[in-house]
Order: sequence, then structure tokens, then C-alpha cells
Amino acid sequence: MAEAERWTAHNYHPLPVVISSAEGAWVTDIDGKRYLDCLAGYSALNFGHRHPALVAAAHAQLDRLTLTSRAFVHDQFATFCRGLAELCGKDLVLPMNTGAEAVETAIKVARKWGYKIKGVPHDKATIVVAAGNFHGRTTTIVSFSTDPDARADFGPYTPGFKVVPYGDLDAMVAAIDETTVAVLIEPIQGEQGVIVPPAGYLPGVRALCSTEGVLFVADEIQSGLGRTGTTFACDDEGVVPDMYVLGKALGGGIVPVSAVAADQEVLGVLRPGEHGSTFGGNPLACAVATEVVGLLKTGDFQRRSAELGARLHADLGALVGHGLLAVRGRGLWAGVDIDPALMTGREACERLAQRGVLAKDTHGSTIRLAPPLVVEPAELDWAVEQLAAIL
Ligand SMILES: Cc1ncc(COP(=O)(O)O)c(C=O)c1O
Repeated sequence: MAEAERWTAHNYHPLPVVISSAEGAWVTDIDGKRYLDCLAGYSALNFGHRHPALVAAAHAQLDRLTLTSRAFVHDQFATFCRGLAELCGKDLVLPMNTGAEAVETAIKVARKWGYKIKGVPHDKATIVVAAGNFHGRTTTIVSFSTDPDARADFGPYTPGFKVVPYGDLDAMVAAIDETTVAVLIEPIQGEQGVIVPPAGYLPGVRALCSTEGVLFVADEIQSGLGRTGTTFACDDEGVVPDMYVLGKALGGGIVPVSAVAADQEVLGVLRPGEHGSTFGGNPLACAVATEVVGLLKTGDFQRRSAELGARLHADLGALVGHGLLAVRGRGLWAGVDIDPALMTGREACERLAQRGVLAKDTHGSTIRLAPPLVVEPAELDWAVEQLAAIL
């Protein structure tokens, strides 16, 4: 840890745990101590650490072909793109690597769609976003963050974004005008503390976007791919966005894979040379992500998340008034507000780590629980017992 402190930029404040191996929902540190991973790489490890089918796909691909660039076509590309497009119910997919790149892709596509299809005057496009958002760390994305840590000192900022309160449909109605090309929101705000919008908000946004001729772009990078008990968090509200933005779990916890998925009318606006990435859609990424899509098509992980999530929320709910102020979330995803009179979220995570549970604080006294979807019921019960014990 001292070496890491000495040789890296201090852009993270990790818990004092040095992990050297992992399997399923558990990780092991360099001293052999085991921890239940209740963060799961911010939901990048929905299928657990080293899921056998994903590791096998990676190994097989490593032995055949790892990188071509998009200058050439490779034999894993179409299979992945078709599989993901079908999972999303969309015509087309554009693969990238990190979540932020996929969000940037969505912004560029929405702007070009605005100019070419909607007829917005050139360079006048606006995108409506929500306060408390987290969409990544690029200069454009932090331009519309409302978190001072993410934003301050990184200006000048990219124009073209309007921020409205999350969950407030009237504010969104007021913000939309003839220059609006897209609404970009998280169906549940993860980084902000697993904030679930009021019932009816997402269908309201959907209807508004349809009426106004605005693209509904759902950032499902953290909420999607089984985390909430359905394939997408939008499914919970019966909502289909115009564009899905995906990442994290798409790479199976092995390689960074992100993507946007949308219909021809939207994603079809891009022409060669206008957007791309050397590593986006590489053979290794496609081989692993194809397997991820296959796991999701079974529906098993979504079912597990829904069933175990109900158990998790019931158990956590019983702690409200006993050290917890509130619990939010859906499926195997919970934002837990600890009574700040007891301890900070950081202190809670340090104490949980001592007891063998890894979680991560966000914003003061909130901690986030998002175990891999392969976690066993008894393990989940045990994790909540550890939380009760530290409270
Ligand atoms: C909703 C959401 N969007 C985008 C991102 C950015 O993803 P990445 O860190 O892979 O760039 C994150 C990461 O936490 C996220 O939660």
C-alpha cells in the first residue's frame, strides 16, 4: 500500500485491503483473509469473480486472436453485436471500452441525430441531464456533473447541457425546447447513493421524449445487466429508451467492454471516420461479452437478483431505526444511509472490512451494497449480520 501511495496519483482513497485472488462472490487478500465482495467492482462483477464460462471464453480467445483494430473485421464481432442488439431489442450496437466512452458516444450520436434528423440548427443542440448524475470522468461529462469534487478545477466546460432535478418531470418539461436532442439519465442513480426516482417518472420521461421528438438515452452502465432483477432497470417501469448505454458487467469482470444500442434511425447517423476506438469491439472483448449476453439470455441472474434482492431489502429494512436512517434500491442493489451520529460511511466500510465484508461509501454516510448476483442467500444474511453488528 505504501508503494502504491508513492507511485500513483492519489485519485482514489481505497480501503486498506490488498486483494490477490478471488472466486465467485469472495476475494482473498495477500494474508489469506477472505472477504465477501459487496461492491462487485461497482457492478462490473455481476456474474461474480472468474465466472467459469467467462474465463473459458477468455482463455479460448486468448489462444486464437486478441486484437485486430476495426480496420479489419474479425470473427467474433458480428456475433457479439447481434447478440447484444437482440438482448436490447435494438437494430444496432456500437462497442467501445469504458463507460465514459459509451456516454461520449451517446452524446455525439444524439447531437448528430439532432442536426441530421431532427433539424436542430448547427451547434445549438442541448441535452437535458439530471442533478446528482454520474456518467463518467471525461471533460465533457464532468461539465454537466453537479458534484464539486468531480467538476471543480476541470473547466472550461463543454456547453450544451441543461441540468434539472432528478425525479422532477415538470422541471424536465420546462427544460425541453426545440434545441433539445436528448434526455440523458440513469434509471437509478448509483453513485449518488442508489436513488430510485418516484414511480411514474421514467414512463413520464419516455412519454415526454416521444411527444417532443427527443431521444431518451438511458445510462444503464451500473443499473443494467441484471443488477435490479431485470435485464435493464428501465424494464422495471416498462420503459424502452431510444438508446441504452451499457458497460461494466458487459465485460464480465474480465475486460472493459461498453456499448450503445439504438435503432437504425439513431445509430445509423454515424459514417466511417466520425467515431471509433482502437480497442472498441476487439476480439477478446467480443468473445467475453458474447458469453455475458448468453448468461443474461437465460434470465437466471435477473431472477436471482430479484429474489435475493427482496431478501436483502427486507433484512436491511429491519435495521432502519436501529442505526440506519434509510434504505433504497432494487434487486441486489442497496443504498444504505447510516445515522451520521454513529459514524461516517467510510468508517462503516472500514469496520465492515475488518469483519470480512467489502463495501464502499458514497457521499458522507451512505454506503452501497451490490454483491455479485451469484451470492448465496446465507452469505447475504451473514453480510447484513455484520452490518447490524457494526451499527
Ligand atoms: C451510471 C454510470 N455511467 C458511467 C460510468 C462511467 O463508467 P467508467 O468508469 O467505465 O468510465 C459509471 C461508473 O461508475 C456509472 O455508474
